[in-house]
Order: sequence, then C-alpha cells, then structure tokens
Amino acid sequence: MNTPSTILDAIPRRLHLQPNHPLTITRKLIESRFPGYKTHNDLFPIVTTSQNFDSLGFPLDHVGRSRTDTYYINKDTVLRTHTSAHQADTFRDNKSEGYLISADVYRRDAIDRSHYPVFHQMEGARTWDRQQAGRAGKAVAQVIWDDVSKLPKHDIAVEDPNPPFHIERNPLQSRHAAEEAEAIAAHLKRSLEDMVVTIFNAAKGATDIATPDEPLKVRWVEAYFPFTSPSWELEVFWQGDWLEVLGCGVVSQAILDNATVPNRVGWAFGIGLERIAMLLYGIPDIRLFWSKDTRFLSQFSEAAPIKRFVPFSKYPACFKDVSFWLRSSSSAAGGASPIHPPATTSAATPTPNSDSAATPQTLSSREPVIANAEARAASPHAATSTHIPRSTGTTTRAEPTSSASDKEGLSEHPHLIAPAAPTQAPAAFHENDVMEIAREVCGDLVEDVRLTDEFVHPKTGRKSLCYRINYRSLERTLTNDETNAMHERLRSLLVDRLGVELR
Ligand code: DAH
Repeated sequence: MNTPSTILDAIPRRLHLQPNHPLTITRKLIESRFPGYKTHNDLFPIVTTSQNFDSLGFPLDHVGRSRTDTYYINKDTVLRTHTSAHQADTFRDNKSEGYLISADVYRRDAIDRSHYPVFHQMEGARTWDRQQAGRAGKAVAQVIWDDVSKLPKHDIAVEDPNPPFHIERNPLQSRHAAEEAEAIAAHLKRSLEDMVVTIFNAAKGATDIATPDEPLKVRWVEAYFPFTSPSWELEVFWQGDWLEVLGCGVVSQAILDNATVPNRVGWAFGIGLERIAMLLYGIPDIRLFWSKDTRFLSQFSEAAPIKRFVPFSKYPACFKDVSFWLRSSSSAAGGASPIHPPATTSAATPTPNSDSAATPQTLSSREPVIANAEARAASPHAATSTHIPRSTGTTTRAEPTSSASDKEGLSEHPHLIAPAAPTQAPAAFHENDVMEIAREVCGDLVEDVRLTDEFVHPKTGRKSLCYRINYRSLERTLTNDETNAMHERLRSLLVDRLGVELR
C-alpha cells in the first residue's frame, strides 16, 4: 500500500459532480456533443489491477504498473489511473451503443502547476453490432457510414496526413476488414472534431486576448495505446502551440471478446478534463480546482456563458533547496536525467512537453533508477492528463515570504502534523517518491518541485541531487515559520523514507 491518506481524502470530493464547478461545466459541455450516449459519472475509484491494466492488454512489465507511478491499495487493487479501467465492464454491461464515463483518476507524478495526483478524465466509446447490421441486410461498415452522415458538420481545417492504418506503425486488427476500420475511424474522427470545435469556440468566446478570426486548426497524429489499434491523438493549434487534447482509437477486439460482446466493433477516446477547463477559463494552476475559496468558486456558473477566470491574487513564492546524496546502493550513477532544466539555464524556456505521446511509444519494461522524461512518455499515463506545457519563470531564487499578516499555524493543516506512514527505504530512488513526500508534508502549499542540479562524485560514483521547492499558497501569504517547518519536515522525511544523506 503506497496510498497516503491525503490522496484517499480526495475520493469524496467528486469535483466533476459539484454544481457550477468548472469541471462539471466542462464535462457537461462535452456531454452535450454526444446525444444519446449513456453517461456514467459515479463509478468508484478503487479498481482491480485487472480492470486498470490486464483487461486493457497492458503487459505485465509495463511501467504504469509500478508502485512509483500508481497508487496501490493492496497488491491487486489500485486507485484507477485512467477512466479506461471501466471500459471492459461497461462493454460487458452492454446497455448502450455509446457511453461516456467521467471520473477522478489518480497518478503519482511531478508537482507543478499542471500536474496534480488526482485529476479527472472522460472516457467515451461507440460500438456497432455486426450481426444486427447483418439482420438489416447491411454490412456494419455501411451502417457506420450512415451514422457518419448524421453527425454535425463543421468547417474547420483538419490536417490528417495519416493513412487509415499502417502495417508497422498503426496496424489494422486482424479481426477487422479494412472498410470496417475506415468507417469506425471516420465516425471517431468526425465525432471528436465536433466536440473539440465546440470546446475551442467556447474558449475563444471567453478569451479577451484578441485572436481576431484566426480560424481553428486541428490535426491528427498517430499514437500507441495497448487497447486500441489503429490509435491517434488529436491536437489543436491554440495560442501559438499545438496542444495534445485527447487519445483515441479503434477498440481492441480482444477487449470486446472478453467483455462477451465479440460481435461489436467500435471506437474509444479519453480526454483530461482539467486541461480542457484550464484552457476554457484560463485557470493558471491545477490546485485551484480543489479550492473551496469563494473567490474561486463564485466565478463559474452553469447558467452563464463561459468567461475568463480572473485570478484573485498572487501570493508570494518562497523557494527552498534541498540537496542530498543518494544511497550508494541506488546504483545512482545511471539513469538520471533532469525533468526540468537546471536553474542556471534560461528560466524563460519551457521544458519540452515530456508527456507528449505524439509518436508511437516503445513501452519500456522497467522504470529507470531515476524517473525521467522518457519514462513518463512511455507510461500509460502519457496521454490525456493535463498536458499544459510546464510552467516557466520559477527557477530564480527567492521572492521573500512575508511574515506579516499571517497567524495561521500548523494546527490548521493537519497534513503537516500527521504521523508518517512507516515505509521501508525502497530499493531504487524514484523522483515520484520525492514528490509524494512533498505532497504529504505540504499539501497544496507547494506549487512546484523541480530537479535543479545533479552531480556524480568522480571518485565515489555517488550521486547528489538538488531539488528546488516552491512554497506558495493560492489563498494567502505563508509565514516564514510555516515554510521553514515544512521544509525541515520534508528534509527529515527524505532521510527517513528514502535513506538519502542530506548535504
Ligand atoms: N486511457 C488513456 C490515458 O489515460 C487515454 C485513452 C487513449 C483512452 C485512447 C481511450 C483511448 O479510450 O482509446 O492516457
């Protein structure tokens, strides 16, 4: 069990169901583009490894199964890492031709303004029954094309240079005729383009930045998922950048066979809701979704048109470094590669979006000694999380914390004083463990944690790392005393849990 109580505390929040919450509004906006699809918004987040991984064809050695990436409840149960965990069961229930599942999902991950260990996804799928088509005297591909012709039309520019499938990169499944896969892909692409047009037109309406009539552009890129083939991601050109918005593909026939609906064929997609809501409203920090502050919540209404979020205040940041030697047994000389550029490099250059899974992935079989960008890209977590390019400008040192005006102490933040779960030092160092400890100590008072330096001692081969913690509350100014107390506790937990030696 590697799931802290702070993470379990998120389960009852169900943000995607809170009236007037931006995630609810985003969910409903998407749902409105899929009329007739059955919605499932209340599925419990603790699932079996079989639901989360096996049913979807994840290999046993897939990095997503590792304890460094996924919250385990026990060896056979996890907090779902994606809404796809419910695909097989929903296909088995066979209650509707189309469905949408919105839910909270959980991943051990980096800390920055676009990553939070709990976020929300929507899964969608549409299938057709070959036998039913046959009884109507039609091939299923024909039935699907008839449905394509009923979809709403749009007039945006779509770049789609990809063949319908590709024998090496994006194969047709052996159980599918080429014309079936082509019809499914056409229905998939048209449906998702329509959704994205709706979202981005709403976002444009909310933007005060003058983007006069710059027409919306979208493009399809080939992708890889263990549970679809062929697979794609949809990207949207938004404020000067191509943004990955969703992952999708033709549902693996093995999933439908196992779900006892072998005659059905169809498509599925998954989309991260925070990322869409952040774009729609211009929400700058993913922690805000969890805020109970009325200065945040009062800005959203299901009844009114979408309008841009107005940040209520920016409280001072406080940067503190922690440097340590890894245990020499961590075979530390290998594997490290900084997720963030060192502080000395240009703070204005965004790190390339390491999550992007725009090209087919070779799935790595083991997590590296130190989690790095490649591992993130190869994980099943790669698509559809939040995917906003990492924040910039936080690599310079120390805006001072103001000590004025703040009387709040540790007792108001029970997570700061909760007893540490006893954990044995793990065999290998993984950056996500640093992130988890920072979350446990700081809760939402940490904005960003980044590796700023690493160094291998030329004689001993021991590795030293330096992480820079950016302490900042979204709601108030932190006192020096409380940041110092958090930092001290972080330092000592790094030693206790990870066996590192502070420098
Ligand atoms: N589950 C994937 C993820 O979390 C997203 C996804 C990709 C869902 C393709 C799908 C799909 O249904 O077909 O990254």
